[in-house]
Amino acid sequence: MSTFTVGYFVGSLARASINRKLAVALTRVAPPQLQMREIPIGELPLYSYDYDADYPPTARALKDAIAAVDAVLFVTPEYNRSIPGALKNAIDWASRPYGQNSFTRKPSAVIGTSPGKIGTAVGQQHLRSIMAFCNSPLMNAIEAYIQFEPGLITDEGEVTVASTADFLRDYMQEFHGYITRVYTALPRGGA
Ligand SMILES: Cc1cc2nc3c(=O)[nH]c(=O)nc-3n(C[C@H](O)[C@H](O)[C@H](O)COP(=O)(O)O)c2cc1C
Repeated sequence: MSTFTVGYFVGSLARASINRKLAVALTRVAPPQLQMREIPIGELPLYSYDYDADYPPTARALKDAIAAVDAVLFVTPEYNRSIPGALKNAIDWASRPYGQNSFTRKPSAVIGTSPGKIGTAVGQQHLRSIMAFCNSPLMNAIEAYIQFEPGLITDEGEVTVASTADFLRDYMQEFHGYITRVYTALPRGGA
């Protein structure tokens, strides 16, 4: 099996973020063929095309980080039935300057957790629409809407419910298969 690097975005900037706990859990259950690293978004200024001629260091670092990975994973809350502004801002930075969209042909997946029963489903649909426009092949299935109960995932990323741990392991295994299929159709570095 091929090995890939995956850069993950945590859509929440909150210190006690339940999506950060989920991201840590995903790094723990990912197969060894997926090397996980976070791509931070919290220090980015708000995007404007005024920056296009000369991106600030944080934004250049963002684009370099995406260029350095084989795939990206979004672990995000749903805010007001969409994605958080901080994540949208990061995507806008990465998608520009025009003609230098970092997500083009970069495989991606989305997952999220919320205390609510629909577990970020509506926000994820918005993200799917955004990433389609950014020309990222995004994994369609399996979908992952995780309802967060207190204690479900520890700060260390330990999942306390066995069925959820199994599901998250399957999800990451499926993502590995998806990345493999994308690069089988279009080799890394290919046109
Ligand atoms: C501005 C805001 C909007 C929210 N909107 C939603 C929502 O649309 N759907 C939902 O399930 N939860 C919503 N919530 C509750 C979040 O799911 C909850 O705060 C969760 O902890 C956010 O994930 P995080 O801890 O990773 O930031 C919202 C929370 C905030 C702060």
